[in-house]
Order: sequence, then C-alpha cells, then structure tokens
Amino acid sequence: MNRPDREHKTVAPDGRPLSEQPRWRRDFPIDWPEDHYVARRDFTKFMALTSLAFVAGQFWIGFQNIFRKRRGEPAISRIAAISDISVGGAITFNYPEEHDKCVLVRTGENSFVAYSQACTHLSCAVVPEPDKGHFRCPCHEGYFDIATGRPTAGPPRRPLERIALRFNGDAIYAAGQERNL
Ligand code: FES
Repeated sequence: MNRPDREHKTVAPDGRPLSEQPRWRRDFPIDWPEDHYVARRDFTKFMALTSLAFVAGQFWIGFQNIFRKRRGEPAISRIAAISDISVGGAITFNYPEEHDKCVLVRTGENSFVAYSQACTHLSCAVVPEPDKGHFRCPCHEGYFDIATGRPTAGPPRRPLERIALRFNGDAIYAAGQERNL
C-alpha cells in the first residue's frame, strides 16, 4: 500500500494546472494540504529567525562586555531568570570572574539582593538564611544582614561586597560590584 507523500501539494480534481483552473480556484489557491505545508514552512522560518535573534543577542552582550572592559566599565553577566528563583530562595553564580563566587537571594516577590560569597573576615563562603534575614559564615559564626550586607555578629567588621543587579524582562543580570559602606 502506497503511503501518502506528506510534502505533496494538492492537485486540482481535474488534474489541470492552476492557470487553467476557474477563477474562484485561482483566487483561493491554497487548500488544506498546501495550507499545512505553508504552516510548517512558516514555523520553520519563525524558529530560524528566533534562533538567529537569540544568537545575535548573545553576540551583542559579548561585544558590549568587550567594550565595557576596554572602557573600564563593569561586565554585564546573566545570572538567571526571575522564574528560576522562588521567594526566599537563593542561587549561586560567578562574577565578575569564573572563580568569584556570589549569591543572589530573592527576599520578596519583587526584591533581590546579590553579594560576593566571600566572608570579609577570612573569606569562607557565607550561607544565605533568608528566613532568618541573614547570611551566616560557618567558619567563625559571623553574621551579615541580608538586606544591607553589613556584619551583625561575630568577627567580621566589613560588609559583604554587593553586586549591582539589572533586570531585562525575565532575566537578572550582574552589572558591577558596589562598594558597600
Ligand atoms: S571567615 Fe567568616 S567569620 Fe571568619
């Protein structure tokens, strides 16, 4: 049994070419099989253009970072999507370099804070405890306020280094280190 050709476009019932068909058929030349063919083609075109736009966007961010570095401006780096972090949740990331550990905390529906994870005492990694409103350093029981990054207990005397955040649609970006006084 012959299987139907999925790319086959419909031929008029009398088999004659479109130019020889009646006016009404020439005015509405796309019938169902051809319509599906056009829909698939448009979908493929849409996917190709979307991918191209995504790649162009990544190149644009890359070029911007190169120019920013040349001008001495901070790099911009995507951390996560807003939807990736629930309220009270945290996510770690590296910024501005691969070995610089940072942490982003969602403290409310529309509020986020990000800091370097290095404790300002002896550089142990601090752990966010958003439900208690602080970061805890397990090495010597140092504590930092989650909203300001300032030390609240234990040996640390200087605040955590704050990371500036930018938002674009659903995406959250790190956009520089702020001096936290
Ligand atoms: S390294 Fe964090 S309290 Fe000592």
